[in-house]
Amino acid sequence: MSPIPIVDSMYIPSPARIAKIEPLTALEKLFNIELPWGQSLGHQPGQFVEVSLYGIGEAPISISSSPSRSNGKFELCVRKVGDVTGALHNLQVGATIGVRGPFGHGFPVEKFRGKDILFAPGGLGLAPLRSLINQVLDERGKYGRVIILYGARDPSELLFMDEVRQWQSRGDVEVHVTVDRGDENWKGNVGVITTLFPKIEIYPRNTVGITVGPPAMYRFVLMEMLGKGLSEGNIWMSLERRMKCGVGKCGHCQINHLYTCQSGPAFSYAEIKHLEEAL
Ligand SMILES: Cc1cc2nc3c(=O)[nH]c(=O)nc-3n(C[C@H](O)[C@H](O)[C@H](O)COP(=O)(O)OP(=O)(O)OC[C@H]3O[C@@H](n4cnc5c(N)ncnc54)[C@H](O)[C@@H]3O)c2cc1C
Ligand code: FES
Repeated sequence: MSPIPIVDSMYIPSPARIAKIEPLTALEKLFNIELPWGQSLGHQPGQFVEVSLYGIGEAPISISSSPSRSNGKFELCVRKVGDVTGALHNLQVGATIGVRGPFGHGFPVEKFRGKDILFAPGGLGLAPLRSLINQVLDERGKYGRVIILYGARDPSELLFMDEVRQWQSRGDVEVHVTVDRGDENWKGNVGVITTLFPKIEIYPRNTVGITVGPPAMYRFVLMEMLGKGLSEGNIWMSLERRMKCGVGKCGHCQINHLYTCQSGPAFSYAEIKHLEEAL
């Protein structure tokens, strides 16, 4: 039997249950969310949902779990920054939240097949890219080399480190991690994410570069990727704007003529490089 949509409108949140909460850092928690009757979210890596808390508001949050591991549930990695995210952090397992989506265009996974993939997440950017990384690893044979360059401000802000260590322990993924500032226990690379690029060799004609992170990082990572010879159409990123409706109606997410909630949030550099406000 096909799933019964509990709410058949893109404007009305569906009730969803928090099935598990895992603290990741001082500011981030991972929420495992269950839709009614085991419905699947049916998302693509890079898409987002609008999460609502009744009486407080709505916030766009990327889907952090991979479709290949959905199992009737999905995961959101949420940083506590304000009203909605703060209230979400105060909820317990079993609480009900509202969910609309999935919305937007995610990463075109099918275009990446057969290619080498260079992931460059910075900070919270690993949350959305984790969805794509795990999708790629779950169908590992369909891709060439997989390289992950991950940077965070300091060791306490590194996300999903158990998973990152699992990726590092596989023989078929190259992983480099850096922090801007180390501490007394940190033995790894110290420096911003661009300091990892000289450590890798790539074959640019067959490589796709994908970066998600704070806006200030994009310009520098782009320079590194272009410097390595990647073509503009093979560099992908996610542009997060102040999304509200999520469905192309309110204009809050507009960059020039584009509504990022609909045309994005995943874009190739070739698509957005001429837009003044994009980067
Ligand atoms: C496509 C998309 C995907 C996102 N994915 C994630 C994610 O996976 N995990 C996560 O923790 N956050 C994510 N964000 C950011 C998240 O939407 C904001 O942190 C959230 O909306 C803040 O809501 P609030 O009510 O808690 O904060 P508010 O009380 O509204 O504001 C608190 C602070 O957050 C800033 N803020 C408010 N809205 C946004 C916004 N839309 N984007 C950025 N900053 C904002 C405000 O300037 C203010 O400084 C994403 C944003 C977008 C657009
Ligand atoms: S969020 Fe409303 S138009 Fe994009």
